[in-house]
Amino acid sequence: MAVNLLLGLQWGDEGKGKIVDVLTKNYDIIARFQGGPNAGHTLIFDGHKHVLHTIPSGIFHKNAVNVVGNGVVIDPIIFKKELENLAQFNLDIKSKLLISRKAHLILPTHRLLDAASETSKGKAKIGSTLKGIGPTYMDKTGRNGMRVGDLELEDWKEKYQALTEKHIKMIDFFDVDIEYNLEELETEFCEAIEVLKQLTFIDSEEYLNNAIKNKKTILAEGAQGSLLDIDFGTYPFVTSSNTTAAGACTGLGVAPNKIGEVFGIFKAYTTRVGSGPFPTELFDKDGEIMAKVGHEFGATTGRPRRCGWLDLVALKYAVQINGVTQLMMMKGDVLSGFDTLKVCTSYNYKGTEVNHLPYNIEEHNVTPIYTELKGWKEDLTSMTSVETLPKELNDYIKFIEDFVEVPVKIVSVGPDRKQTILK
Ligand code: GDP
Ligand code: IMO
Ligand code: MG
Repeated sequence: MAVNLLLGLQWGDEGKGKIVDVLTKNYDIIARFQGGPNAGHTLIFDGHKHVLHTIPSGIFHKNAVNVVGNGVVIDPIIFKKELENLAQFNLDIKSKLLISRKAHLILPTHRLLDAASETSKGKAKIGSTLKGIGPTYMDKTGRNGMRVGDLELEDWKEKYQALTEKHIKMIDFFDVDIEYNLEELETEFCEAIEVLKQLTFIDSEEYLNNAIKNKKTILAEGAQGSLLDIDFGTYPFVTSSNTTAAGACTGLGVAPNKIGEVFGIFKAYTTRVGSGPFPTELFDKDGEIMAKVGHEFGATTGRPRRCGWLDLVALKYAVQINGVTQLMMMKGDVLSGFDTLKVCTSYNYKGTEVNHLPYNIEEHNVTPIYTELKGWKEDLTSMTSVETLPKELNDYIKFIEDFVEVPVKIVSVGPDRKQTILK
């Protein structure tokens, strides 16, 4: 049985959490493969909203096992808070939530380093979530990191001390004003480690490959989006992991020939939090409407999200990099009421029209060229079948499908689990 992947095709926040929750009933295992608490995945059902950062979005379903893969970076303090939020649901966390021994740990000093690095960059800052993601992945690739499996060793505290001392020297090197109380941070960290140690640690690549042999169904859950990928995103304004399909192989230990469907999620428009180029960004009333109607505020940091028209050139690029086999269009409901909708179908790149995503997509190099489509007036939020969707919305979807050459299989018309239409 193949492993299906679900990943974001834009700059994150496409609605991955919602769709993983919707699809979990079809799967035995949900496995997060990269990122960390920089992610904020929102699930809404039975009138309640839940935001998950590290824990996979299948956690609320009775039968699914949720795996935090080796490619994920875990902040024990945030993880502890997530567990506390779940306490009221009486989930059997010990057997439902399994953590890879090879996942790396975010130390308090990784967060401080993130802050020091961003402060030192001034205006050129990445707009990081400041969760310590970059420094933790740097320690991973630099072969200095601490992993979950280290917590089972007697000397983990010595490792922790040595790494922390090194980080303090690095923070001093940045020569910026970062206030911290190391003792307090350490106390909080050690308490959280004790909670983490109560959970089940596994050799996750072994577990998942055995599950594949035993014909279990697995859905790999991505975080962030393809345009934030460390290799293929809008570097340097990206995150520090491979958010694209290949990241699922390295982040779970699953071979490429075990991957089946690749579900690509996109919003019917585009958003971005943090710094970096965004060719179709709007600074007018249309952008304000998207932000207001779509409640576009980051689920992790609460920062307002920048909004703009759908960029089909970027979407096609993401579809290609990931080998997307099915698309899911989110937040179509937010576009109800626009007379005309614009979609970017090529760029003017330094005076020449191009159909691909060029190396530099900064404002001064790239101007989007739009195709205009007719909007729809109907409120979509209570619609439940494809037949009821307005003609203009179907035309909008058809245009996207023809452009990127992949079918749209799910249309989401609201944040609730139930507001999901299968095509
Ligand atoms: P994720 O990071 O990809 O899981 O997405 P986020 O949870 O960060 O952001 C998506 C936001 O859009 C959340 O507030 C969701 O509740 C909301 N959402 C998801 N799908 C829809 C939809 O179809 N319509 C509307 N209006 N909101 C949606
Ligand atoms: P989900 O999984 C949207 C952005 C940050 C910043 C850049 C680098 O909820 O879609 P980092 O903290 O990784 O060093 O930040 O990436 N970013 C996200 N934007 N959704 C996310 O996750 C994001 N995770 C990171 O805003 O621009
Ligand atoms: Mg999010």
